[in-house]
Amino acid sequence: MELTPVPAHIPPEMVMDYNLFDDPLFAKDLHSGMAELAASGRDLIWSPHFGGHWVVIGREAAFEASTNFEQFTSDPHALFPELAQTRQIPINMDPPEHAPFRKVLTDAFSPRAVMGMQGNVEALARELIDAIKHQPGCDFASAIAEPLPVKIFMKVAGFPVERFAEFRQWVLTSISEGDPAKRQAIMEKFNEVTRELLAARRKQRQDDLISTLIDADFGGRQATDAELEGMCLLLFIAGLDTVTNGMALVMRHLAMDTELQAHLRAHPEHLNSAIEEMLRCYAANTFPRWVAHDSAFFGAPLRRGDMVLVSLPTANLDPRGFANPTAVDMDRKTPHLVFGAGVHRCVGAQLARIEIRTLLSMWLREMPPFRLDPDKPWKYHTGFVFSVDSLPIRWD
Ligand code: HEM
Repeated sequence: MELTPVPAHIPPEMVMDYNLFDDPLFAKDLHSGMAELAASGRDLIWSPHFGGHWVVIGREAAFEASTNFEQFTSDPHALFPELAQTRQIPINMDPPEHAPFRKVLTDAFSPRAVMGMQGNVEALARELIDAIKHQPGCDFASAIAEPLPVKIFMKVAGFPVERFAEFRQWVLTSISEGDPAKRQAIMEKFNEVTRELLAARRKQRQDDLISTLIDADFGGRQATDAELEGMCLLLFIAGLDTVTNGMALVMRHLAMDTELQAHLRAHPEHLNSAIEEMLRCYAANTFPRWVAHDSAFFGAPLRRGDMVLVSLPTANLDPRGFANPTAVDMDRKTPHLVFGAGVHRCVGAQLARIEIRTLLSMWLREMPPFRLDPDKPWKYHTGFVFSVDSLPIRWD
């Protein structure tokens, strides 16, 4: 793709040829490259890819860009009303419009509601582990990390679980596809299935999230079908690949760190803090904001309408925020930014944690020590979510 000429107002030292979908930095074992960029001490860079955009690298700048919704809008349609892309609700909304939609989702994924999903997560984790435990190894991505969150989501939301393979393919394409027109086409396919499901549930409610959303109170009214579609689309995009990759990246670390594996087998009470730290070391999300008005930000001359990508893989490895950032330090106190910050902080963090914890604690209890398969290297690709395509592991 053609590079955009650097506009005159961009300081040359801030320009870096960084391509989120394919960068030489990612060839360095993915997060090693991210640690290198984070260690450069830069807060922001300007990339000539995709029409030109900013990338927030540093931890403090990432926190500011995520939380300051007056300077950074999450709603590109407010700046570019002609945008054809479907609005994802509530992530493409700013306060106060955002609040009632957010409230319904935080209720649906509250710690109590998520505890109610625990049984399903345990049963599925059991089924998936049983299917591979008598083999000498497996591709952890396709055997466990992909089916677990996608099937849980489909079941909780009310989508037909027998269409799993199709859904998973849509998730992969929608996240990894650099061409906006192709991404939009996938979203349209998903919206079509959502519309069918909405029509069925409007006739007859069931015990699922779609039915709950239809009847929910969105600030004194019910949501329209278009709004419900936007919410489902976001849950689909935000909640599936993220868990798959978080889980696979955590597992990859454990496969390389047999000492930590042994420690967690002996001390399962440390599992929660180990998971938080591994999620931090291998953060996978980069998400956009748009500049609401001309302003200066950590030395960057921002112009209204500029796109700013907040890079969590670098922000969570910034040595100015995390001493010895690539080490898994279970006593670390600094809060990480893996689930974002501010009004859009991840609604599904609790569900994601339960899925990862349930799987890992069952795995560490029942499976022998495991390691990366020396004959089959892992495969990954990058984009708004760093995606693990395959993770071959072995055990004795
Ligand atoms: C390890 C797994 C996950 C990670 C790393 C993750 C990460 C994030 C991040 C960084 C944001 C903030 C984006 C922004 O500020 O623009 C976010 C928002 C969101 N996430 Fe997650 N997520 C995960 C799992 C989930 C799951 C399982 C669900 C679904 C239940 C979910 C639903 C959402 C929603 C709905 C939002 C938007 C919230 C809002 O706009 O108020 N996420 N997530």
